[in-house]
Amino acid sequence: MSADLTQDAARALLAFWRATGVDMDAAEAVFSAPRPTLPPPVARPVAPAPQRIRAKAAASPIDTARSLAAAADNIAALRAAVELFEGCALKATARYTVFSDGRDDAPVLLIGEAPGKDEDEQGKPFVGRSGQLLDRMLAQIGLSREVNVLISNTIYWRPPGNRDPTQGEIVACLPFVERLIALVRPKLLILAGKAAAHTVLKREEGVTRLRGRRLNYTHPDLHAPVNSMVMLHPAYLLRQPQQKRLAWADLLATEAWLDELGVHRVARP
Ligand code: URA
Repeated sequence: MSADLTQDAARALLAFWRATGVDMDAAEAVFSAPRPTLPPPVARPVAPAPQRIRAKAAASPIDTARSLAAAADNIAALRAAVELFEGCALKATARYTVFSDGRDDAPVLLIGEAPGKDEDEQGKPFVGRSGQLLDRMLAQIGLSREVNVLISNTIYWRPPGNRDPTQGEIVACLPFVERLIALVRPKLLILAGKAAAHTVLKREEGVTRLRGRRLNYTHPDLHAPVNSMVMLHPAYLLRQPQQKRLAWADLLATEAWLDELGVHRVARP
């Protein structure tokens, strides 16, 4: 019903009540007063249809790691990117980000598993007992952090209690590991232990099958495959010293390959 019709009906009702003797002066004053002008209706925000709600999805840790790693065009920038990265929960319990030790321009890149207690206290990879054994092994074939090796890990923060890193932790750090390999472009990549071998080479054979063989690592950012060798992890050798004979055979195989690759080596101690 229109406003005019409503008012006509009301007036008719008032006339009827007046005719029947009701005092209607006050009521009629309301109708003779000018009609108040109402403020224009407030435009209410239209609730978005569900399909229009496109909440900006938070980037996954892996996507964040990928873009941080891709933006790093040298090793110092990559180290800074890893230190910025918040996508691996281990960072919350670790003391330091343990990225690398050795020479950024080294012809040999060695990747281990994860920092342990000593590494977490010093912020450098392989500085505990297994690191000391590793240094002695490398020295046997003329390799040292000071001269021709860069050492890093598959993940950069100590897992509490030295537990094995989870798949999620490894995958979150992988873009940085791959970027490091692409930036260093080593003449030889040495992968120490199962975590490094499986993560980097994406192969599932046991380390005892992969060790000591000439393998290739391929990465889309690299035009040529990277020469790669898997070695038994020094922490494993500390637990299973009888396996050192296998490790020795692998060192000799590595030494021969380094010679073929023309890698400058230091004199054995
Ligand atoms: N074991 C590793 O794999 N990396 C380290 O840094 C120390 C021990």
